[in-house]
Amino acid sequence: MLILGIESSCDETAASVVEITNNGEKKILSNSVASQIAIHRLYGGVVPEIAGRAHSEAICTVVSDALENAGKTVSDIDIIGVTSNPGLIGALLVGVSFAKSLAYSAGKPIVPVNHIKGHIAANYFNYPELKPPFLALVVSGGHTSIMDVKSYTDFRTIGRTRDDAAGEAFDKVGRVMGLTYPCGAEMDKLAFAGDPSIFKLPSAAISDDTLDFSFSGVKTAILNTLNSMEQKKQSYKKEDIAAAFTKVFTASICKKTEMALKKTGYTTFAVAGGVSANSHLRKSLSELCKKMNVKLCIPPLSLCGDNGAMIAAQAYYEYIEGNVGDTSLNASAV
Ligand code: KG4
Ligand code: ZN
Repeated sequence: MLILGIESSCDETAASVVEITNNGEKKILSNSVASQIAIHRLYGGVVPEIAGRAHSEAICTVVSDALENAGKTVSDIDIIGVTSNPGLIGALLVGVSFAKSLAYSAGKPIVPVNHIKGHIAANYFNYPELKPPFLALVVSGGHTSIMDVKSYTDFRTIGRTRDDAAGEAFDKVGRVMGLTYPCGAEMDKLAFAGDPSIFKLPSAAISDDTLDFSFSGVKTAILNTLNSMEQKKQSYKKEDIAAAFTKVFTASICKKTEMALKKTGYTTFAVAGGVSANSHLRKSLSELCKKMNVKLCIPPLSLCGDNGAMIAAQAYYEYIEGNVGDTSLNASAV
């Protein structure tokens, strides 16, 4: 079976052709991504209106590239999967409208895919043994959620951020220090050279029985500290801020992950999303899982950010469940 996955929920226009063999093995035949980062960098963050327009300009080329690189044509494709929610509405609508038109004209089934479920499905490529139920964590620019993955299509959110997402916090802290958007990868590098003990920061793990996070406190603490140092003409090292933030971030994620693993009793844990590329987080989670005797699944760096392959993988399971759309399919921001 061949699946074309299309993604346009934020600032990457992406398409991929994935082959599912008879024994269920998933192979990525192509994975095309047109990133809008250079455009949004000028504004220090994603501008929704510009994102929608850039998706419109890129989508034909990205989908054509994905088909061509896979050596396939639309008629070879069995299913078209597309991100339908959540995300920026104007951005999502480009992918959904394009996928609907393509599916209708080629007479193929269209399968709407939830973006968060798609991120988690990125793990099925490198961990074919990964099967629900399991615990999952999605950490990206727009989401920080702990999920109980009950089946391939039935997910329950059991913990989430109450304000900023993890990636958003990385980007905002980086921005005050003058780093270039998106700042996560640079913060990751800087943190290796910094002393995390110089700045005392509040935890992002809410301190009761909940599995929720709050990143606004730690972000505001950094902004206030830097403003007050600037007024007093004191200097600071970006490396120390990056290290302190990274320490609080990884400790908070590990704390709630440990609680969630104990609560659910799961012995398999899958991580996904752009921030799962963070090397400090990868190390801490791998130590935690070793200590708890839990199997850890994390996508390779190439599949951490938004991509079409993860959407194709999730579309496969949605299709098996009968979750097929029609020409009335619409996008939803939530
Ligand atoms: O999943 P993603 O590509 O897009 C969304 O669905 O949001 O995630 C993008 C986010 C950005 O906030 C970026 O700064 C962050 O992932 N990011 C990182 C790293 N690489 C990307 N954050 C921390 N450490 C990294 N190495
Ligand atoms: Zn994403």
